[in-house]
Amino acid sequence: MRNEHEIAVEVGILGATGMVGQRFIQLLENHPWFRITWLAASDRSSGKRYEDAAKWRLDTPCPERIAKMTISPAEPDGAPKVIFAALDTDIARDLEPRFAAAGCAVISNSSAFRMHPDVPLVIPEVNADHLHLIEGQSWRRESGGYIVTNSNCSAMGLVLALKPIEERFGIEQIFVTTMQAVSGAGYPGVASMDILGNVVPYIKSEEEKMEAETLKLLGKLRGDAIVPLNARMSAHCNRVAVEDGHTESVSIKLGNKLGRPATRDELLAAWAEFRPLAGQDLPMAPAQPVEWIAAEDRPQPRLDKNRGRGMTVSVGRLRPCGLLDWKFTLLSHNTIRGAAGAAIVNAELLMSLGKLEPVAVAAGRA
Ligand SMILES: NC(=O)c1ccc[n+]([C@@H]2O[C@H](COP(=O)([O-])OP(=O)(O)OC[C@H]3O[C@@H](n4cnc5c(N)ncnc54)[C@H](OP(=O)(O)O)[C@@H]3O)[C@@H](O)[C@H]2O)c1
Repeated sequence: MRNEHEIAVEVGILGATGMVGQRFIQLLENHPWFRITWLAASDRSSGKRYEDAAKWRLDTPCPERIAKMTISPAEPDGAPKVIFAALDTDIARDLEPRFAAAGCAVISNSSAFRMHPDVPLVIPEVNADHLHLIEGQSWRRESGGYIVTNSNCSAMGLVLALKPIEERFGIEQIFVTTMQAVSGAGYPGVASMDILGNVVPYIKSEEEKMEAETLKLLGKLRGDAIVPLNARMSAHCNRVAVEDGHTESVSIKLGNKLGRPATRDELLAAWAEFRPLAGQDLPMAPAQPVEWIAAEDRPQPRLDKNRGRGMTVSVGRLRPCGLLDWKFTLLSHNTIRGAAGAAIVNAELLMSLGKLEPVAVAAGRA
């Protein structure tokens, strides 16, 4: 028989009606640790039932309990203490600090604070130790609240693929060209007349974000600061007519940690053996964060984006590069691994470290 109450963490979603907000709702349904008790969006949506305000775009139905919830104003009063934020950057810059100042743990998808020196930009498999930065945030000292961010969706897949290589061999140069899905632009995103049968070789600020965030994520915590990875990097970012899943062509020049050139088998072993969260039992973390696909024409977004429930980065086509040392192709799901799923696994990590407080909530799942 089920208890009347179960222990879970009450969570809210800020920006619940958007592309990433919907992914949060989908991924948190039946989550063993978190239960959505609050949804907020803009004034256009506030006061409406979720099903009337949100244009549901995912291929699983909106959970009935969520569909009937009323959207709250985007204000900290009455919000739970754990907030998944999926706001446009300009809005996030104003709203996220207000929630952190009110004592909330804000787990953010936006770029507003990712590069702030006191704000951790975290991928649990890559740089969990960077969470130390929250202790230096004034909100943390004054109210207990803080902001933790996950990266830009195109940096996410790249960094996961590079981390095991950087650890074993070092990396001196990174050259990457992205082919990014339309869902990365939110909803309604890029006009169909602009993208159908087309490639758009420009995504505002994306190359700058990808370059800066990659080096911060692969950087080292030194005292209370992050020293970015000392590598040269160039990113070319393109929007392509794919629904979900960012594909990236990557060339790298390795460092000299081995004292000799690394072999192809050693690179493949670095990916295969990369399981830094093994044994931690974080529900959203994939068993294999980076998965090698041997077929010569993979990974492909249509076939491979949902590996590891959308949390695994697929890599393929590893071969020598005529300019740098090695080149390969990677794919990651932009709204799962690159956004909502990344924030959820960050929250799971915070929970496992005792930085989120569980409370008793009414039993019964959506
Ligand atoms: N899509 C991706 O693949 C992806 C990946 C990584 C990171 N991100 C980042 O995640 C964030 C959200 O992206 P998205 O794709 O979900 O965008 P989106 O589809 O445009 O959704 C934006 C959300 O923000 C809400 N909002 C707008 N103005 C607001 C205001 N003044 N106050 C409160 N809420 C407001 C919207 O509510 P209404 O419906 O009421 O307007 C909606 O819920 C962005 O910073 C984006 O860069 C996106």
